[in-house]
Amino acid sequence: MIINENYTKLPGSYLFSDIAKKVNEFKSSHPEANIIRLGIGDVTKPLPPAVIEAMHKAVDEMGDASTFRGYGPEQGYDFLVNAIVENDYKIRGLDITADEVFVSDGSKSDTGNIGDILGLDNVVAITDPVYPVYVDTNAMAGRAGDLLANGKWSKLVYIPCTDENNFIPDLPKEKVDIIYLCYPNNPTGTTLTKAQLKVWVDYAAAHKALILFDSAYEAFITESDVPHSIYEIEGAKEVAIEFRSFSKTAGFTGTRCAYTVVPKALTGYTKSGEKVSLNKLWNRRHTTKFNGVPYIIQRAAEACYSEEGKKQVKATIDYYLNNAKIIREALCAQGLNVYGGVNSPYIWVKTPKGMTSWNFFDYLLNELNIVGTPGVGFGPSGEGYLRLTAFGTLENTKEAVERLKKIS
Ligand code: MLT
Repeated sequence: MIINENYTKLPGSYLFSDIAKKVNEFKSSHPEANIIRLGIGDVTKPLPPAVIEAMHKAVDEMGDASTFRGYGPEQGYDFLVNAIVENDYKIRGLDITADEVFVSDGSKSDTGNIGDILGLDNVVAITDPVYPVYVDTNAMAGRAGDLLANGKWSKLVYIPCTDENNFIPDLPKEKVDIIYLCYPNNPTGTTLTKAQLKVWVDYAAAHKALILFDSAYEAFITESDVPHSIYEIEGAKEVAIEFRSFSKTAGFTGTRCAYTVVPKALTGYTKSGEKVSLNKLWNRRHTTKFNGVPYIIQRAAEACYSEEGKKQVKATIDYYLNNAKIIREALCAQGLNVYGGVNSPYIWVKTPKGMTSWNFFDYLLNELNIVGTPGVGFGPSGEGYLRLTAFGTLENTKEAVERLKKIS
């Protein structure tokens, strides 16, 4: 038996596992430390009451033979898919149909698994820094080449997003076939305007490229010129797949529910140039490798769209956005260069005094007992930055901000 050797090229562990290990080590040697975790983007607010109520009801249905459900449709139950179409697309005037929506257990899984239906010879572009799942899953598939000493994979095209270009990615100089875009961005918290996103949609159309648009943080958008969906851009249905999640929106990081939109107008090509529907391929993959999200969880997700659910979800988002503002303002007051945190739960800060990302991470952990995420963990262009999340409690956020005043 021969293993998939691409796995041997990967760094030892996934970024967030690496950080968790470091934090646990610190905790064992400093059991008295009151550590504030603003590292991984995991939420702290409980599920909204409307969601809990729907889950309880669904649990009862599962205990009654007349309402019990076994295998459901792999793509998701109609009640949830229709709620998604109505509330996330129709309401914005976007014509997405039920058979273009695939309910799943997460955008991490979907952005990782989408590679199953894409050829291995495609040239993949990522913005840098980037959510590590895009890179690692392409490395696993063999599309990334080899990891070089400079922290880059030999076959990936890196598109730097730093304060030098105001975090606006430039179009690649070489032709690329697959482009991962995440907006509002993880990790930098920055956004693209409609006009800036259109540049990418036009590029994809002109080069027969595919955009994988991760919109997991869409609910945090506060500014009017920031698109909530890539399908707000003309022509996007022909070139883009969109990933959305209930994780950060409604507290489903542990509950697991997300969805992916694969428009029927979207096609890829065989080597001989024949057009193939990506919707059909993804449907084939999804129905073969996935058994659907549990009924109880889909009812929970549906409840996010009820009148009460919407209000409660909005209150949660506002709570995190207030945390983001508190962190952002405190870091600015320290004279640091701060980005994100306006349309996003992530705050991206330039390290003080030219410290490396990991040195600043260690300083925050050891001296202030605050966990962040070192920017370089998201890619070479993240060096010299650190990410903080607004997903903590208000109390911890305020305490963290007090401690951050000690940065001199
Ligand atoms: C993050 O911290 O970047 C996210 O929590 C990761 C994820 O959503 O998988």
